[in-house]
Amino acid sequence: MLQHISYTALEYRINQAYQTRLKQRGNNAEGVFWKNKSTQIARFAALLEITKKASPNLQTTIFDIGCGYGAMLNFIEQSAYSQNILYSGVDINRSMIKACWQQFPEKKHLFRLGRKPYKEVDFSVFSGTFNLCFSNKLETWEKYIFGNLEQSWKKSRFGLVLNLLCDIRPSIRKQIYYANRKQFITRANERFGPTHAISTPCVSGDVTFVISKT
Ligand SMILES: C[S@@+](CC[C@H](N)C(=O)[O-])C[C@H]1O[C@@H](n2cnc3c(N)ncnc32)[C@H](O)[C@@H]1O
Repeated sequence: MLQHISYTALEYRINQAYQTRLKQRGNNAEGVFWKNKSTQIARFAALLEITKKASPNLQTTIFDIGCGYGAMLNFIEQSAYSQNILYSGVDINRSMIKACWQQFPEKKHLFRLGRKPYKEVDFSVFSGTFNLCFSNKLETWEKYIFGNLEQSWKKSRFGLVLNLLCDIRPSIRKQIYYANRKQFITRANERFGPTHAISTPCVSGDVTFVISKT
């Protein structure tokens, strides 16, 4: 119960921060706190490449958890991935979902308010979802991340793919969470399944993790 209250408070502050930022900067990389479009896209490319390699199917269904204003769908549609990825997105922030609906008026059905897939999916993917954090307590934030991953794990046939900023030690600095690569792998291995990591190409300090069911 107490845990639930503290997560609600955390998310309230996260939602406020994203809502304000989106209003100030608009539907673009900076509007969701990315440095620029190229690092945003490099993250998408790394996540999607992994799902493509790990999926036994020609067509792979993905849920983008923390979809922001819908930039991943834009990226997919303009790339070769459009042939084999079936996309849906959810976000806990109402302003983000409204922005997705504005961007894709004919594909509104692909975007919903939420934190996990609302149906069975091949992969759940998370890009930057857990970077911004309004707690100084590492333990709280890491529990929050794993709790959220757990909900998507249950709905994902093949696994989860996510990126996190990483450093020598886990830390929270200037409201940004940094994981430790090895420690995250160990914990995800114990809690879920075989976990591997690559340094996200072209994004310094960012690591893409894949947690598989097989
Ligand atoms: C850094 S932004 C990235 C947005 C998008 N993935 C992109 O790369 O353009 C993180 C997004 O995750 C959302 N978010 C944060 N925590 C979430 C959670 N637990 N479940 C779903 N969405 C979440 C935020 O509202 C925000 O839109």
